[in-house]
Amino acid sequence: MDFIQNMYVQAGLLILATMILAKIVSTLLCSGSSKNLPPMVSAWPIIGGLMKFLKGPIVMLREEYPKLGNVFTIKLLIKNVTFLIGPEVSQHFFKATESDLSQQEVYQFNVPTFGPGVVFDVDYSVRQEQFRFFTESLRVSKLKSYVDQMILEAEGYFAKWGEEGVVDLKYELEHLIILTASRCLLGREVRDQLFEDVSSLFHDLDSGMLPISVVFPYLPIPAHHRRDKARKKLAEIFTKIIQGRKQSGNVESDMLQSFIDSKYKDGRPTTESEVTGLLIAALFAGQHTSSITSTWTGAYLLSHKKYLSSVLEEQKDVKKRHGDKLDHDVLAEMDVLYRCIKEALRLHPPLIVLLRSNHRDFTVTAKDGKDYVIPKGHVVATSPAFSNRLPHIFKNPDTYDPDRFAPGREEDKVAGAFSYISFGGGRHGCLGEPFAYLQIKAIWTHLLRNFELELISPFPEIDWNAMVVGVKDKVMVRYRRRPLSVD
Ligand code: HEM
Repeated sequence: MDFIQNMYVQAGLLILATMILAKIVSTLLCSGSSKNLPPMVSAWPIIGGLMKFLKGPIVMLREEYPKLGNVFTIKLLIKNVTFLIGPEVSQHFFKATESDLSQQEVYQFNVPTFGPGVVFDVDYSVRQEQFRFFTESLRVSKLKSYVDQMILEAEGYFAKWGEEGVVDLKYELEHLIILTASRCLLGREVRDQLFEDVSSLFHDLDSGMLPISVVFPYLPIPAHHRRDKARKKLAEIFTKIIQGRKQSGNVESDMLQSFIDSKYKDGRPTTESEVTGLLIAALFAGQHTSSITSTWTGAYLLSHKKYLSSVLEEQKDVKKRHGDKLDHDVLAEMDVLYRCIKEALRLHPPLIVLLRSNHRDFTVTAKDGKDYVIPKGHVVATSPAFSNRLPHIFKNPDTYDPDRFAPGREEDKVAGAFSYISFGGGRHGCLGEPFAYLQIKAIWTHLLRNFELELISPFPEIDWNAMVVGVKDKVMVRYRRRPLSVD
């Protein structure tokens, strides 16, 4: 009996000691890490964070940033997402190596759209090589020939407008940009013979990228079925075009040709399937972003007479120097127009949140001087739409003021490289930025020189529900062809 009693006492003591030890260890561990963890958005357990996020990331940021500062975490179901807001804390976000902060996991949802064997479906070493192909296809020498085609497309498109009339500028610019992108990126065959087929297939691809696709890219829903069918059909079309070019020996100056001619470091040429995937990726990266930006630029210019006069003045000056000649180098001289586009893009970056997956703990010092550890396993996020309007970086941040970028002010530079992040920056900064500016400048140069324009609908609202955030409403504009060009 004594023996049994002893056994119970000993077992009891052992359990008690284990519990005390576990408590001490867990207390030590928790206090050790939580001491430095970023503040959490306070929300109901499990779905509270998600509910806040579903109101829209910018609404959430506007509520939480004043309370929690520029580094904080929100729990979205089981995933912690840590926001780093502003140039003071976003260095690591933009500069970290792929092994520390990667894109692959968070941008996986693009794989069924872009297709197999490209971009987020391949290891970083291969992706780096594919991004080298992008860089080569967007070199200045190539841009020069793309610009000639951009100008031709704009001339052809606006030649179809009458002497005067009313148009929805948003619709018009979307169409012109897809035509231009087809010409410069997808190539002559698509632009001249297959434009209708290819743009309707792209439409199905586009409509297959929904907010739900970010979490469940393979969910068996009709939009995903149409996306997959369209992707397959596009692969067939491009395979034929690529084979046709190879057999005929025809060489064109478009991105398609550049991708066909690209070679990996080991000498392997790109496959037809890779070329197709890279072209789709380029179109997805550049089409909506550019058409949205050209529409915002128009909406701001036509509602801010001061800046409209400045860009018209600049056109006169440029024409004095170059006459009607318009090419890459002439467009490059248009600094006023550049600043007007850049300011529209500061206020309305189409990619409102950028994401990375964290593979290694790192420390950031928040604006208030506190150090926080961002643990491995968190998703790390930053927001161009929110950061671009920080009042300690941009004076009167909600005001359209292109002169803020002019020499002497340069508000985009004073707080360092990552103050203005509409094109991202650092390791993964946008490779298409010069292409985008040239395209938007070519379009607006043509419009400014040839038409008097008047905005007749209210200033448009933002379409926060779109994957690439754009202009919600129609942008109705009355135009009248100028009797004489501006000079
Ligand atoms: C106004 C137009 C555009 C905007 C606002 C824009 C914005 C961006 C942003 C914010 C990123 C960084 C994404 C991240 O860090 O996660 C990015 C990356 C990229 N963009 Fe653009 N983009 C535009 C036009 C274009 C065009 C026209 C092209 C190509 C023709 C293009 C090709 C790319 C590529 C290839 C990357 C990936 C770079 C990398 O990860 O190394 N973009 N863009």
